[in-house]
Amino acid sequence: MKRIAVLASGRGTNLEAILEAVESGHIAGEVAVAISDQEKALALQRAENRGVKALFMNPKDYGGREQYDRAIVEQLKEDQVDLVVLAGFMRLLTAYFIQAYPLAIMNIHPSLLPAFPGLDGVEQALNYGVKITGCTVHFVDEGLDTGPVILQEAVPIIQEDTVETLHQRIHASEHRLYPTAIDLFCKEKLKVEGRRCMIID
Ligand code: GAR
Repeated sequence: MKRIAVLASGRGTNLEAILEAVESGHIAGEVAVAISDQEKALALQRAENRGVKALFMNPKDYGGREQYDRAIVEQLKEDQVDLVVLAGFMRLLTAYFIQAYPLAIMNIHPSLLPAFPGLDGVEQALNYGVKITGCTVHFVDEGLDTGPVILQEAVPIIQEDTVETLHQRIHASEHRLYPTAIDLFCKEKLKVEGRRCMIID
């Protein structure tokens, strides 16, 4: 059984969807720990409510980005984590972290990458005026939202959309897509060749 860590900074609706999928057997793994860089993150509360270990790790307690990442990696090793899942974790990981978990860190981004990377992916798509956006689950590499794409789902933009209504529909799509991608990893069905991520039987 693969051991998963979820890192989240905010509301944690993706974390909730993942915990639900684990509980209902739709993810063949277990969440060993949830970690947040925000003390008040609802994500931590959600983990605790489901009896999952929840840790606030304060970036201010460490001398810099790499020291912080070293502390997180140490914690992940202690919890024998196989897969790191970023679910609205609003920090860029350092090379040290990424190299500690090659092709074993996933991120979810609220656009169809490589369109609209970085912050505010939903707002960027809306302001650009595209008619279709969506969400992307990808492996994390050292670039900003550039790693191999695992799964994507399209979400049409309607004329009446605001950032809030659009983000709501993207969230619903994320809540389906992320557990699916995590389950594939747990079942060792993902294989990366160059930039292409294949699903194998
Ligand atoms: C999600 O929509 C995720 O795609 C986005 O943050 C939200 C977190 O929601 N991530 C990024 O924008 C990363 N650049 P949640 O806390 O409810 O899971």
